[in-house]
Amino acid sequence: MNKVLDGKAVLNVGGARSIGAAEARLFASAGASVLVADILDDRGAELVKEIVAAGGDARYMRLDARREKDWDLAVAELLAWRGTIDVLVNNVGVNDRNDIMSTSLEDWNNTFESNATSMFLGIRAVVPTMRKARRGSIINIGSTSSVTGTPFAAYCASKWAMRGIGKVAAREFAADGIRVNTLCPGFILNEFNETQPYVDALRDSVPMKRAGSSDEVAHLALYFASDVSSYVTGQDVVIDGALSMPSYVLSTFAAK
Ligand SMILES: NC(=O)c1ccc[n+]([C@@H]2O[C@H](COP(=O)([O-])OP(=O)(O)OC[C@H]3O[C@@H](n4cnc5c(N)ncnc54)[C@H](O)[C@@H]3O)[C@@H](O)[C@H]2O)c1
Repeated sequence: MNKVLDGKAVLNVGGARSIGAAEARLFASAGASVLVADILDDRGAELVKEIVAAGGDARYMRLDARREKDWDLAVAELLAWRGTIDVLVNNVGVNDRNDIMSTSLEDWNNTFESNATSMFLGIRAVVPTMRKARRGSIINIGSTSSVTGTPFAAYCASKWAMRGIGKVAAREFAADGIRVNTLCPGFILNEFNETQPYVDALRDSVPMKRAGSSDEVAHLALYFASDVSSYVTGQDVVIDGALSMPSYVLSTFAAK
């Protein structure tokens, strides 16, 4: 693997499994020091052990992304360890699968805190360090729910909020050399959705006729973490096998 992240310090939040874990493995193999932070302590510790055994540089710490103090502790940990923060990846996501009338206020608030407020807190936590260094890349994992809309009220609205925060942050910190981009995955196979009864129908609805993998999302994140994307900021980048392409366009194509 080309060491495109050589010497970079990465805070990878929600990084213990699935997409976040794929990023941790890939970023470490690209030369980064990766602080994996999550609420799944066993999974995080296991992942770090695996990365270190493969010759990578990684650590794990517990971080509840809804808590401001936890973000401050993670920043302090990474600064004490590597003296800098070059990249923040925020993978944290919870999916409440209810429509508006069946979503409780408690579930609405928890989903927003987990998905959108965590992004606000994470940006505020790393920006002072990145500002001083006059460089940094902040990558947030959103969803195609914030492109097409989905029936899951709190999830969909919180993912739209992420795109909004990303736009504000990209403009606010552009002159500091800090880039902020939101990746919007479609259907990415993970250990939760691969066993669901809807998985075949969902796969069939993707024009590429397959789910994406965590590795494919991790490679897109690698582009944004590395300096090759140095002039790209404020973008919402969809990775979904054309799932979000309007169906009338698809049927027009099919008719030809
Ligand atoms: N898998 C998909 O099909 C898909 C599609 C679109 C978007 N996404 C988004 O991609 C991101 C990663 O999803 P995934 O598929 O890897 O699922 P996942 O559930 O395996 O990953 C989410 C991670 O966030 C962690 N997390 C949850 N709440 C947290 C908190 N309060 N503090 C710290 N960590 C917390 C979880 O422990 C987990 O490790 C999520 O934001 C999700 O919404 C996934």
